Amino acid sequence: MIIGRPFLTTEQIHEKVIELADRISKDYTGKEILAIGILKGSFMFFADIIRALKTPVTLDFIIAASYLKTTSTGEVKIHYDMREDIKGKHVLLIDDIIDTGISLNYIRERILSKGPASLKVCALLDKKERREVNVPMDYIGFEIPNQFFVGYGLDYDNNYRNLPYIAVFKKET
Ligand code: IMP
Ligand code: MG
Repeated sequence: MIIGRPFLTTEQIHEKVIELADRISKDYTGKEILAIGILKGSFMFFADIIRALKTPVTLDFIIAASYLKTTSTGEVKIHYDMREDIKGKHVLLIDDIIDTGISLNYIRERILSKGPASLKVCALLDKKERREVNVPMDYIGFEIPNQFFVGYGLDYDNNYRNLPYIAVFKKET
């Protein structure tokens, strides 16, 4: 396994988190956000971004998986579902990375069927080239190339999530 140099440093990530949180706080002035983190990948980004929000926040999580090692299976499995009542809430979905868009699209539809007052999506990373399903996204941190990344919540086979930066992951050949 080879972990490259940081692709995005801790400082770059931090700056982006603050920038996104400021935009979100402005857009939601006078409203309460129900932030829903898509686990496991978003746990670090989620914790950082909600701490930087200036609006009142309640939170929940959903555990969904569509990946085996480094490839998407295209099939979304929900391992833990939200507990909060979504009806009439301003839901902000928070994800680590949007790749094919299949997981996010599935989760979005699931939330929309429960009648939120509004639904927006915030993701740290966007691997745009790989998109298969067109999902509306409101807050994007960085557009990234079609490579496999680990760190800051992102994993390879559940490893490297704890790295404080984001790096390109390459399998040894
Ligand atoms: P999608 O359904 O294809 O958009 O898959 C999104 C999910 O795949 C993300 O939330 C991640 O969990 C995972 N994923 C996609 N690309 C990467 C990557 O480069 N590194 C780690 N996980 C990834
Ligand atoms: Mg994820």
